[in-house]
Amino acid sequence: MDKFVITGGNPLHGEVIVSGAKNAAVAILAAAVLVEDTCVIENVPIIKDVKVILEILRQLGAEVQMQENGTVVMNCSNLNTFEATSDLVRKMRASYYLLGALLGRFGKAQVSLPGGCDFGGRPIDQHIKGFEAMGAMVKVEHGNVYATTVEGMKGNSVYMDKVSVGATINIMIAATKAQGMTIIENAAKEPHVVDLANFLNYMGANIKGAGTDVIKIKGVDKLHGGTYSIIPDQIEAGTFLVAAAACGGDVLVKNVIPKHLDAITAKLVEMNVEIEEMDDAIRVKRSGKITKANVKTLPYPGFPTDMQPQIVALLSVAEGTSMVTEDVWDNRFQYVSELKRMGAQISVNGKTAVIEGVGNLTGAPVRSTDLRAGAAMLIAGLMAKGTTELQNLEHIDRGYENFEQKLCGLGAQLVREKMEE
Ligand code: EPZ
Repeated sequence: MDKFVITGGNPLHGEVIVSGAKNAAVAILAAAVLVEDTCVIENVPIIKDVKVILEILRQLGAEVQMQENGTVVMNCSNLNTFEATSDLVRKMRASYYLLGALLGRFGKAQVSLPGGCDFGGRPIDQHIKGFEAMGAMVKVEHGNVYATTVEGMKGNSVYMDKVSVGATINIMIAATKAQGMTIIENAAKEPHVVDLANFLNYMGANIKGAGTDVIKIKGVDKLHGGTYSIIPDQIEAGTFLVAAAACGGDVLVKNVIPKHLDAITAKLVEMNVEIEEMDDAIRVKRSGKITKANVKTLPYPGFPTDMQPQIVALLSVAEGTSMVTEDVWDNRFQYVSELKRMGAQISVNGKTAVIEGVGNLTGAPVRSTDLRAGAAMLIAGLMAKGTTELQNLEHIDRGYENFEQKLCGLGAQLVREKMEE
């Protein structure tokens, strides 16, 4: 177990390069199970979640090499099982993409129920609804999902009762090599949904409409190998924008797609932060006080739930009272009690947090309750007066590549230390 010891109060200056998108990478690596040839996938972030999914793929029989520059070379020709039930599968959320991938490849799948961040209930009923519409018989027993088909997956229309990134991606993967046409209505429009569709199309799939709420997938018999580069991480970029706004200073966040960050940059401008957009970079500057704002999380192109904890940390020192409403997850405010240890004045009522801005946060021993909450607590520590000890770094390590090196490169003062038993 590691902890960060953070000395707060230093403005951030300089440039930072954003890594490949975690949530695109975990979907694309799982979808590569459909390709019986060599895939070269570039710009893969070297983070715990990626290492775990690659290890699971190795366990299934895939040949996988991860290079230090973030290029993954994989070949799934010799995949020899439709069962993914190891402990590793239970550890991460994105392992549920193996359901769609193995169903698409073998017409059957047995996959453990996934783990991941705890935001209250995380049902997979919409995934199952999609697989069933495509002819699979699905049952959930003894912590595993069992899915079988008589003659492989068959295309059909699926209307999502709730906009779900995971279900949209999983059904798209399962439909890529199904017989006939699958139409997903009320589909998620997140950048990583589009990135996965682009990857599959590069490898020979026929997917149209990704990025809109109707995706049409005409099944193909075979996919071929090729080289694909993953998009930059929208949430990592947003986290650096908020960190720079929180600490003050002048930071150029490079390797971003500014359009993916519109909801975040618009809020920061409203909060008195200077934003300058370039083709593939955003400059963020803040010299005056942060001002209050109201934020509601929504599916893309709305404000991302994965930036909610970071923006709450920033609003905790804003002038005035802000309201943040979490409209995607039932229980994503667990970290608020940690922020309150640092002097934040926040009350949570159901899905809404009311944040009374305080002049300053003060350093304290705190912990990460999940991945983005960990990023938020780190930002809080960087802007607080005094020293903050942030524990439970395993969450941050799952999703941010070289986070402390990148922050220290901007002038942040933090060191990773081993915790005493
Ligand atoms: C993805 O999770 C991301 N994870 C999450 O990011 C992100 O918070 C979330 O999308 C929303 O943007 C990955 O991509 C690996 P959903 P996912 O299905 O796919 C309900 C991070 O920090 N729902 O879009 O699991 C669900 O309860 C992580 O990087 C159903 O009701 O989320 C939630 O309220 C954390 N039935 C809403 O839909 C279902 O079958 C959105 O969930 C599926 C979901």
